[in-house]
Amino acid sequence: MYNVEITGTGRYLPDFRVSNDDIAQFVDTSDVWISERTGIKERRISIRENTTDMAVEAARRALQDAELRAEELDLIVVATVTPDNFFPSTACLVQARLGATRAVAFDISAACTGFIFALSIAGQFIKTGQYQKALIIGSEVLSKIVDWQDRNTCVLFADGAGAAVLERGKQGIISELLGSDGTGAEKLACSAVPLQNKFTGTCSDAENGSGSKFIRRDYITMNGREIFKFAVNIMPECILQVLENTGYSLKDVKQIVPHQANIRILEAAAKKLAINKDKFYVNLGHYGNTSGASIPIALDEMAEKGLINPGDLLIIVGFGAGLTYGAQLLRWTKESSRK
Ligand code: UT7
Repeated sequence: MYNVEITGTGRYLPDFRVSNDDIAQFVDTSDVWISERTGIKERRISIRENTTDMAVEAARRALQDAELRAEELDLIVVATVTPDNFFPSTACLVQARLGATRAVAFDISAACTGFIFALSIAGQFIKTGQYQKALIIGSEVLSKIVDWQDRNTCVLFADGAGAAVLERGKQGIISELLGSDGTGAEKLACSAVPLQNKFTGTCSDAENGSGSKFIRRDYITMNGREIFKFAVNIMPECILQVLENTGYSLKDVKQIVPHQANIRILEAAAKKLAINKDKFYVNLGHYGNTSGASIPIALDEMAEKGLINPGDLLIIVGFGAGLTYGAQLLRWTKESSRK
């Protein structure tokens, strides 16, 4: 079996910044509430770029960082819950725009855990020797599925993309775990088109095929408190589990790179693990919750700042709709070329 090294990272954030005060102009909220309850100060919202546009830009930067040409890629996996289309997949559109002519391309849906799932899936192909070079991307334009009148959600979610190039190597992914709990599906959801066609007549919410628990709305609905509780339990669990049987403990880990959802979730997780909260890399104050893009954006930012160096152990960990969760223990191998 081979291993999988991250040889390049890239990110793309739309230019347009929306502050908490900006949001307080149209819903009943305040900078104080949002900052204190979430840690978010501002976020980027896309005015012109859709999910594919941002994915392509993040991908170009990751390829440049890896000094790899798109034609050399064997595989492209895009994690997104906000694709431009039901089909074709975002990954196929990215493939065409990059000119990655040899690559197999497909999307996956694991919401905020999407990057972790994508890394695992692409990693399996590389570990078995089927492919050698892969591009994985998390790209989200959540602003198009946010209810901008719902203060419970519109203060949290935002837009962005992050990408990583993976190549066959000797080290990299030390251990990983993925998990799903579909019984919590309705706690964080966004419905697609209802079951309705020439033969169904007009069907009610309860009859549309997904069960009556779902509120059929084409924007995000969330039970914030339930997701909060889930996150506070599952994050420490994933972190401890991914370390099990590896011979490493938390003190060997340089930094934990979590899905960026809420500072209070990270503080509670740090408390449960009895670690300093600075062990978590945090950038949600600037970008809000960009779902599957949040971890690769963080990794790229850390690499750019020279915060991660060859030999460092990292844990990436996430949770999200599905419900889904997962983590990887990684040995970073890439020398930063951008310090
Ligand atoms: O990627 C995963 C995505 N989801 C998450 O990570 C969400 C996890 N959950 C959370 O981050 C938190 O639950 C929230 C930030 C969503 C909410 O914070 P909370 O401390 O759990 O607030 P709460 O839901 O318990 O609500 C407390 C009060 C309520 O008012 P009442 O009923 O006490 O009068 C809410 O209506 O805060 C109110 N509230 C707000 N007030 C001002 C909720 N949102 C806002 C708001 N501004 N934006």
